[in-house]
Amino acid sequence: MKTIRKTIFAVMFAVVMSMPSFAAGRLSVQIGNFTSWKETPHGVLISAGNAKLSLTVYGPEVVRVRATQNEFSTTPSYAVITEPSGKFTSVKDEKDKLVLSTGELKVEVNKDPVLVRFYNKDGKLLNEDDPGLGISWLGTGTTCYKKLQPGERFIGLGEKTGNLDRRGSAYVDWNTDNPAYATNGDPLYTSLPFYIGLHNKLSYGIFFDNTYKATFNFGASNNRFSSFGAVDGEMNYYFFGGHSVADLLKEYTNLTGRIKMPPIWGLGFQQSRWSYFPDTEVLNLARTFREKKIPADVIYLDIHYMDAYKVFTWNKERFPNPSAMIDSLKDMGFHIVTIVDPGVKKEKGYWAYDSGLKNDCFVKYPDGTNWSADVWPGTCNFPDFTNPKVRTWWGNLYKGLVADGVTGFWNDMNEPASWGNMVPNLVEFDMEGHKGTMEEAHNVYGMQMARSTFQGATKLMDGKRPLVLTRAAYAGIQRYSAIWTGDNVASDEHMLLASRLINSMGLAGVPYVGADIGGFMGGTTNRKLFARWISIAAYTPFFRSHSEYNSRAHEPWTFGEDVEAISRKYIDERYQLLPYIYSAFYQAHETGMPIARSLAINYTFDKNIYNPDFQDEYLFGPSILVAPVSSEQNFGRVYLPKGVWYRKSTGKKYDGGQSVIVDAPLSDLPVFVKAGAIIPMQSTVQNTAQKGDGIMRLNIYSGSEPNKYLYYEDDGTTYKYENGHFLKREFAFDPAAKKITIGKAEGNYTSKFNKIEVVLHGFDAMNSVKVGRKTMSLQKGEGDTQTLTLDANNGETVLSW
Ligand code: GLC
Repeated sequence: MKTIRKTIFAVMFAVVMSMPSFAAGRLSVQIGNFTSWKETPHGVLISAGNAKLSLTVYGPEVVRVRATQNEFSTTPSYAVITEPSGKFTSVKDEKDKLVLSTGELKVEVNKDPVLVRFYNKDGKLLNEDDPGLGISWLGTGTTCYKKLQPGERFIGLGEKTGNLDRRGSAYVDWNTDNPAYATNGDPLYTSLPFYIGLHNKLSYGIFFDNTYKATFNFGASNNRFSSFGAVDGEMNYYFFGGHSVADLLKEYTNLTGRIKMPPIWGLGFQQSRWSYFPDTEVLNLARTFREKKIPADVIYLDIHYMDAYKVFTWNKERFPNPSAMIDSLKDMGFHIVTIVDPGVKKEKGYWAYDSGLKNDCFVKYPDGTNWSADVWPGTCNFPDFTNPKVRTWWGNLYKGLVADGVTGFWNDMNEPASWGNMVPNLVEFDMEGHKGTMEEAHNVYGMQMARSTFQGATKLMDGKRPLVLTRAAYAGIQRYSAIWTGDNVASDEHMLLASRLINSMGLAGVPYVGADIGGFMGGTTNRKLFARWISIAAYTPFFRSHSEYNSRAHEPWTFGEDVEAISRKYIDERYQLLPYIYSAFYQAHETGMPIARSLAINYTFDKNIYNPDFQDEYLFGPSILVAPVSSEQNFGRVYLPKGVWYRKSTGKKYDGGQSVIVDAPLSDLPVFVKAGAIIPMQSTVQNTAQKGDGIMRLNIYSGSEPNKYLYYEDDGTTYKYENGHFLKREFAFDPAAKKITIGKAEGNYTSKFNKIEVVLHGFDAMNSVKVGRKTMSLQKGEGDTQTLTLDANNGETVLSW
C-alpha cells in the first residue's frame, strides 16, 4: 500500500514538475536584493542577488539602465550614436535606497528588492518599477515592469496601428512583411522602440534598445503595469526626463541621430506604380505631368525594370538605354528612383552574385552554407548588412545605377521578407564582429541595408544627396532613410490610419514618412478615395502615389476630370508650401521635431486630442492643422485646440478649445492655420528645381500671441549646407508691439527669392504700414488679405503699424 502511494505520489510529482511553470529554469527570476554598489566612469554599477544593474548618465536628462544575469553585452548599438557624458552629481547611500542625482533627474534605487524610480528635479515621480516585478527574466527573456501611474497615457512606438493613446494595448517589434495589414494588425515593417509616458502633467520617454523580438504592454488586460521586454539580450533602456514632448524628442534624437537635409526634390510629388515599363511609358508619364501642368519631381521604377528581378541590372528590352531615358527625364525635371531589394539571385555568371560569393558577403547557416530563400528573382542569397565590409561592398554596387543617372534608391523586402515569411532564426550574422543569429539581427537588417545604400550612394554621387526609402527599419533609421508604411489597403480606414502611423513614427524620431496614396492593394481605389487621400497626403512629409501590380493606375488623372482638378489643386498647394516644408525639415534636422506632428506634441494634456474622433488630426509643420476626413463624408467634426484658428481655404476664423462641424467636400479638406502663424510660400512651380517668380509669399495670420519662425534655405541638392552654404533668417510677429520683423539673413547662400510679398491675413482695417520710417500702403490681396511687396535684401526689415 505504502509503495503504491509512494509511486502515485512520485508520478504526480513528476507530472507537476514537468509542467512548464515548474520545470527547472522556467520560473521567472527577479533582479533580487541589493548587495553592493560602486562608481563607474559615468554612473554606478549595482550588484543584486540575481543580476547586475548599471546606471549610466548620457546627459542631465538621459540615464541608461542595463541589467544582466551574466556579463554585459559588448555588441555596439545600431541606434545610439552618442557616448555617455557627465555623471551623477550626487550619490547618497541611504539605509533602504541609493539616491542619485544628475541635477535634472533624481534616480532612486530601492534596495530590497532592487527597483528603479525616476523623479524630476522638483521631486515629482515620473516613472517607477513595479514593486513586485521590477526587472525580471524568464528563460533568456527579460522584461521591465513599470507601475502604471494614475491616468497614465502612452504615445509613440513608431509604426503601430491602434489609437494615439496606446493605453490598454500591447505590441510586438519584429519586422514583418505584412501585406494588406489589418487596421489593428501588428507587427508591421519597422521596430522603433521609443515611447513616451504622460501623467499628472508630466512626461518621460523610454527607449528600449534591444534588437530581439520585443513586446510592449501598455496596461493591456491589466491595470497594474506597463512593460517592455525581449526574448533574449539584455535589459537595456534609456530613460528620458523632459519638460515636454518636444524636449523628449530632442533628447531621443540627440541619442539616435537626426535626419540630414533630404534632397528637395524628394519633397515634391512622387509617382510610383508596380511597375512602369518600358521606357516609352515612363517618358510618356513624365510628359503627361508636364502637359497637364500637374507638378511632380520623381518617378519610381518597381521590380520590372530589372532583368529577371536581378538587383543592379536593367531589363534590356524594356530599358535599352537607361541613361538616355534618364537624361530626357532630367530635361523634364524628373528624378528616377529604382527599387533595390536585398535578395541576390543565386545564379552563377550573374556578376552581383559572383561578386557576393567571392567576397563572402552572404548570411550563412551555422554549417557554413549560404542561407537561401525565395523572393521575386527566385532563390536568393542575402547580404549580411551587419558586416561593415559587406555594407561597403553593397554600397559600391550602386555604381552602375548612379552612372546611369539614378538618384534615389528604394530598399524593399528588407525585414528581410521571403515567401512563407519564416526566416530561420539560427542563421548567423557578423554583428560588427560580435557575431549573432537572425534572432538578434532581424530587426536591424533593413536599417543596415538602408545605411549601406545611403552611405554607398552618397559616396558615389559626387556630393549630391541621394533619396533612400526603406520599408523595414530600426531606431536611428532617420539618419539614413525615409520610410513608407508598406502595403496598405485602398480603404478609408487605411487612409485615416496612415495619418496615425505617420504621426507615431514622428513621435519615434523618424520625420520623413508617408503612405501609398490611394492604397497599395485590396479594395478598389475609387475616385472619392483617391481625391481625399491625395489631398491629405499633400500635407505629409513623404508624398508618393503607389499601387500594386495589375491594379488600376494611380496617376492623378486616372479618376476623371474632377479628381484631376482636386489633385492638381493639392499638389500645387504642396509646391507653394515648399519653403515652409523645407524649413520644417531643417527643424527636424536640428531638433528632431517631426514634420507631421501629432497634436500630442503641442497639446499634450488636452484630453480631447486623444478622443478617437479627433486622434487623426495633426499639425503639418508648426502651424497648419490637418483634419483628415473620410471620403464618404462631406462634412467633418474637427477638434480645434485652444487658441484661434483660420480655415486655410476661406480665411474663416474659429475659436479653439472646442469641436466644430465644418464643410469638407472632396475639393476642400479641413485645414486650419493657427492665429499668429508665419508661413513662407512661393509661386506654383512644376518641379522643385524651378525658381518660380522669385517672390516669397510671407503669410502672417493675425493673432494675439507673439510668434517667431526660423526660415531656412539652401541649394536643396548638396551637403554644402554643412559648411555654411545656407540662408537662415528669423521672421517675428509681435502683435502687442504691432510689429513684423524680417530678421537679418545668416549664412552665405543667396536666396532664390529676390522679393518678399508680405501677405496679411485677418489684419482687418489696416491699409498701410511703416517699413522702417517710410509709410507704405497695402494692396488688396486674394480673399481678405492685404499685401506689401519688398525687395528681399539680407538686412533686417521692420514693419510696424
Ligand atoms: C512589395 C512592396 C511594394 C512593391 C512590391 C513589388 O510588396 O511593399 O511597394 O510594389 O513589393 O516590388
